Amino acid sequence: MSAKFNFDVMADRSLDHARKWDREIIQQKFPYAKEDYIPMWIADMDFPAAPAVRKALVEVAENGAYGYGYAHDGFYSAVMSWQHRRHNVDVERDWITLAYGTVPTIHYLYQAFCQPNDCVILNTPVYDPFGYAAHNNGFRIISNPLIYQDRTYYIDFDLFEEQMQRFHPRIHLFCSPHNPGGRIWTLEEIERVAEICYKNNCLLVVDEVHCEHIMSGDFHSALQLPDRYLDNLIVLTSPNKGFNLGGLKTSYSMIPSARVRDVFRHRLEMNSITSPNTFGCAAIIAAYNEGEEWLDAITDYLRESYKQTADFIESRMKGWELMHMQASYLPWVNISGTGATATELCEHMAREAGVIVGDGTFYVDNGSQFIRLNLGCPRALSSEALLRMEAHQLVR
Ligand SMILES: Cc1ncc(COP(=O)(O)O)c(C=O)c1O
Repeated sequence: MSAKFNFDVMADRSLDHARKWDREIIQQKFPYAKEDYIPMWIADMDFPAAPAVRKALVEVAENGAYGYGYAHDGFYSAVMSWQHRRHNVDVERDWITLAYGTVPTIHYLYQAFCQPNDCVILNTPVYDPFGYAAHNNGFRIISNPLIYQDRTYYIDFDLFEEQMQRFHPRIHLFCSPHNPGGRIWTLEEIERVAEICYKNNCLLVVDEVHCEHIMSGDFHSALQLPDRYLDNLIVLTSPNKGFNLGGLKTSYSMIPSARVRDVFRHRLEMNSITSPNTFGCAAIIAAYNEGEEWLDAITDYLRESYKQTADFIESRMKGWELMHMQASYLPWVNISGTGATATELCEHMAREAGVIVGDGTFYVDNGSQFIRLNLGCPRALSSEALLRMEAHQLVR
């Protein structure tokens, strides 16, 4: 445990009306859940945010002026410095565009680059908003199922190429690191994806939101790719997972090509996505300039939680197989050995153990044999959840 930060304490989640905990939301979504539930579903952490972020937000709040601002120099330098220090990429100021969350940005991107009847290609299972952003806008999804082997996901490159040639998708939205599954793609894999997209005239959009909590291995940003791929690339990210700032609804994109950037920015302007959220902007700057030590400490804490969870599942949960999680705090578990489906198991755990875990069918395709846990909480709570689930094992 870090001497400076205490991750064994919870933030009061009633004050921020967290969807993860809110009784009304839980009753709507999981009406069968026991009264004293432990939520392990939505990707949200229960720790108080980094002290530097809290201080910056208090300063803005106490100053009392909340008028229209703009993405000023402090924001751009914080992003450029962070990307350089943490991810080894030299981002130019012009590449960066601030927006109101990664998920809304995905909607705008689809709208900007797809025409009616176009399709997008996704490696599935994948984070559900990748799919509903397409549905909401009337675009078809081509599902490229990931190969599950030895507790890891692999991309089926042959199929990917075949689908590119057959369906001509406009966008490949690539989750790197991958959610769910926590797989970190190697630079070779990312380059192979980029090459196939480039050859097939398909825009590569890479969501790197989960790149801040690394459990093992090395994360590579797509911005490390050779120059020839950069003209066909959009990278989306935010500190929202790393620093748990999702409610501030602020994120940004990095787009090396002026041509691609212009199309995207035009779409943002058409929707008046211009001045940033004052709090979101202040939080990004504080997190990136002063939050590094906190991020390293929390990553160590999450790594230990993951290790303990892996040991527990391996020795005590019948029919559960934990995937190797290289990034994030969201273990993905293959529960096919229980003989139950993910939906049956999730409902059973909520009802009997009072533990609400993520049902793999929520993700876009191929999740029906998986559940997702959330270790973004003090270890006492995740341990209690595991003990409760052990006491209510479901094996058919
Ligand atoms: C892959 C992925 N992208 C984006 C998001 C949300 O990002 P933001 O808070 O910046 O909208 C999540 C949240 O869980 C995610 O898993």
